[in-house]
Amino acid sequence: MPGTKKVFVKTFGCQMNVYDSERMSESLSPYGFTQTDSPEDADVVILNTCHIREKAAEKVYSELGRLRQIKDQRRENGKGTVVTVAGCVAQAEGAEIIARSPVVDLVVGPQSYHRLPDLVFRAQSESRRIVDTNFPEEDKFAKLPERVVSNAPAPGGARLASAFLTVQEGCDKFCTFCVVPYTRGMEFSRPVASLLDEARRLIERGVREITLLGQNVNAYHGEGPDGSDWTLAKLIAAMGDLEGLERVRYTTSHPHDMGDDLIAAHRDVPKLMPYLHLPFQAGADRILAAMNRKHTADQYRALIDKIRNARPDIALSTDIIVGFPGETETEFAQTLALVEEIGFAQAFSFKYSARPGTPAAKMDDQVAEDVKSERLQRLQGLLAVHTSRFNADCVGRTVPVLFERMGRQEGQLVGRSPYLQPVHAAGEQDLLGRIIPVEISGSGANSLMGVIRAA
Ligand code: SAH
Ligand code: SF4
Ligand code: F3S
Repeated sequence: MPGTKKVFVKTFGCQMNVYDSERMSESLSPYGFTQTDSPEDADVVILNTCHIREKAAEKVYSELGRLRQIKDQRRENGKGTVVTVAGCVAQAEGAEIIARSPVVDLVVGPQSYHRLPDLVFRAQSESRRIVDTNFPEEDKFAKLPERVVSNAPAPGGARLASAFLTVQEGCDKFCTFCVVPYTRGMEFSRPVASLLDEARRLIERGVREITLLGQNVNAYHGEGPDGSDWTLAKLIAAMGDLEGLERVRYTTSHPHDMGDDLIAAHRDVPKLMPYLHLPFQAGADRILAAMNRKHTADQYRALIDKIRNARPDIALSTDIIVGFPGETETEFAQTLALVEEIGFAQAFSFKYSARPGTPAAKMDDQVAEDVKSERLQRLQGLLAVHTSRFNADCVGRTVPVLFERMGRQEGQLVGRSPYLQPVHAAGEQDLLGRIIPVEISGSGANSLMGVIRAA
């Protein structure tokens, strides 16, 4: 009975969770579920959660507080609601969530969501609370239903032109601050044939740009159609050969796995966009070693040189942590110096957050909260200058823009430049999903304005 039941999904955290949320709601659609934007209408509510920093994890509990009222209200009207916690908090906290939040009916980890329809059904029919955070033997991607090919816009505004595709999951790097190896498990690469197949289905839907995702995407080593091991560079080249696909991106990379063939792809594969997110976390070698990042600041510099040689206009992006245990003012200054030297087009910076079960959380010399805040402010000030400068340098140039959605203002379109900057321009709706040259006329802190040159 299609369309008789409703599912509401709220996503926290990284792009991989965005992808997982799509797959989770798609997995319920053969059972008659359609998506809704309002939890009040939903028979199943899914919070797809993130555990990376304390703040992210705590958001779940405030959200659950709100859901409790909605669930009570629905019950008064004779309707049931299965409240589900999925994602990385589910994996990390498991049954604790059930104990702490009576409103929760189902806890499902990131490796078990191919069993979601069955779990939801059991939660409803057996009216008991269920926790499934096993790392099953079977490959969840092989068990999930195929991607739905539909031209109907997704709720909350279409992201049809651009799609995520998880190619690799998990992480074996064990950086001492990070929960991901515990929440997502060991590294696993999906086979090439199933990825190309999924990409073709996305293209049939109208997708023009695919971002290949992995916690450590450049460590990708999936089985090729010929049985040999493929690198990410090889996969990117194969994606580039798909007819109808115009742009390929990938994220997130680790400096340690930035192979020469991947760097060369930035020179040789025209559809690979000139943008690279390459976290360096800290500028001081002592801190990098304590983080278990497996590289020094000089090795990172050398890598950036190589990448810029291969693709001189590449936009670089990074992640940085301030206030890792033991970080001194001098060491923090080395982070600022590296930022100044490289000049990132974009960056994400965070105060170190001690995470349960990680080695860094047990280190003695934790940095005081006010020191972290002050360092973060200084760092973000510098990063903002660089981002604005990168954006301002685009003014006067004409760049190809993939239009993805309507803007907030009437008659305005929003798309992305090759360098991933949001670009606003006046234009008609029929340009959505197309790549059009845009002359950049102005720039802001985080976006560009432009005029469409030719359609
Ligand atoms: N796999 C990616 C990062 C995934 S997590 C990589 O290796 O680069 C995204 C970012 O969150 C990290 O790059 C790091 O900057 C930040 N992060 C992770 N754990 C953190 C913690 N405990 N406190 C603060 N920031 C953290
Ligand atoms: Fe976390 Fe490090 Fe793995 Fe990235 S490489 S996911 S920061 S452990
Ligand atoms: Fe968060 Fe899990 Fe992604 S902890 S950053 S949602 S892999």
